[in-house]
Amino acid sequence: MKVAVLGVGLTKFGELWETSFTELFVEAGTKAIENANIDGKDIDAIFVGNMSGGRFIDQEHISSLIADYAGLTPIPSTRVEAACASGGLAIRHAIMGIESGFYDIVVVGGVEKMTDVLTERTTQILATAAEQEWEANLGMTFPGLYAMMARRHMHEYGTTREQLALVSVKNHRNAVNNPYAQFRFEITVEDVLNSTVVAEPLRLLDCSPITDGAACLVLASEKKAKEFVDNPVYIIGSGQASSTISLHGRENIAIMDATINAAKEAYKRAGIEAKQIEVAEVHDCFTIAEILAIEGLGFVKIGKGGKATEEGLTEIGGKIPVNTSGGLKAKGHPVGATGVAQAVEITLQLRGEAEKRQVNADIGLTHNVGGSGGTAVVHIFSK
Ligand code: COA
Repeated sequence: MKVAVLGVGLTKFGELWETSFTELFVEAGTKAIENANIDGKDIDAIFVGNMSGGRFIDQEHISSLIADYAGLTPIPSTRVEAACASGGLAIRHAIMGIESGFYDIVVVGGVEKMTDVLTERTTQILATAAEQEWEANLGMTFPGLYAMMARRHMHEYGTTREQLALVSVKNHRNAVNNPYAQFRFEITVEDVLNSTVVAEPLRLLDCSPITDGAACLVLASEKKAKEFVDNPVYIIGSGQASSTISLHGRENIAIMDATINAAKEAYKRAGIEAKQIEVAEVHDCFTIAEILAIEGLGFVKIGKGGKATEEGLTEIGGKIPVNTSGGLKAKGHPVGATGVAQAVEITLQLRGEAEKRQVNADIGLTHNVGGSGGTAVVHIFSK
């Protein structure tokens, strides 16, 4: 498979109280369309990832809202929802639209406005992505679920509290050079270990923040892309997998099987192996999540993610730089936008447009997770 990325657009991520939901996606969309050098009339369809407009801002029917405010009616517009993997899944649906021959040029966006409600409410809204009967109704939250995975990982594989902290230290360092990131300051291991406990063993600086933001891509068939650009970045692999929505259904909660299965499909479609990936944006909603990701994606053996992080494998300058954007931890995590924002970063890296955080890479990967691993979506990009 081969689908071209013609254009990318991103808003600043953060607490954007002055900017409305519609302003966010119009800004990201306009930037992507300008970046692609296309016209509104060239677009065949829109797909948008959004987790919970209905609960965060009382707005459903996001698909029509977006086409309307972007001035793109009557172009068909479809919302895609898979919790925090909504953006990644929207990309996959756009790819399927193009690969099937249905569409030539598709705009795929992701947007979330999370800071208009208080943290308690946001925590409840995010917990709707967990199983209500067995987890959320009993008081379980996402920090709580990932805390259990972290504890199990520490127990099974000897992962240390310091190794978890090093994920956050790296991602904060990377975000310093990302003008779109929510937190552009460095932190130390001690800062992480001394920050407020959120859900033992996870502390404030182990958690991704609550974020507003939008991201957008313009995708095109290989044939159509040639009319607009000479050497676009291509998406050459896509994978998606499901797992049990609740942790109690998994054989081992220190392994994210949806990631393993989504990666398997993506590598197969791309005709490559994990060892060929040279840069990756992975779903580090909590520090343990990045360790589970690099293991599930096959960058390191299961159980070795903490050690590999400590040894610098995933640093800029390491063998596989991970989360050069700052990741969800420091760039921010507007849930429905995250999967698309990851694709923006990898496109910038492969185009050589990532400025001070630029790495040397021809092949990159994005990895987006819904909930505690009930959904995983992986995409592979190539120059
Ligand atoms: N990392 C670093 N700093 C953070 C932060 C984070 N995750 N969250 C908040 N802060 C900072 C704020 O900027 C603020 O700093 P300031 O005092 O210098 O202005 C301070 O901490 C207090 O912020 P506040 O907004 O009051 O924090 P909070 O207690 O409301 O929220 C969490 C903190 C951890 C509960 C919240 O960030 C959270 O729920 N994160 C997880 C989100 C999530 O589950 N996403 C889905 C994943 S599947």
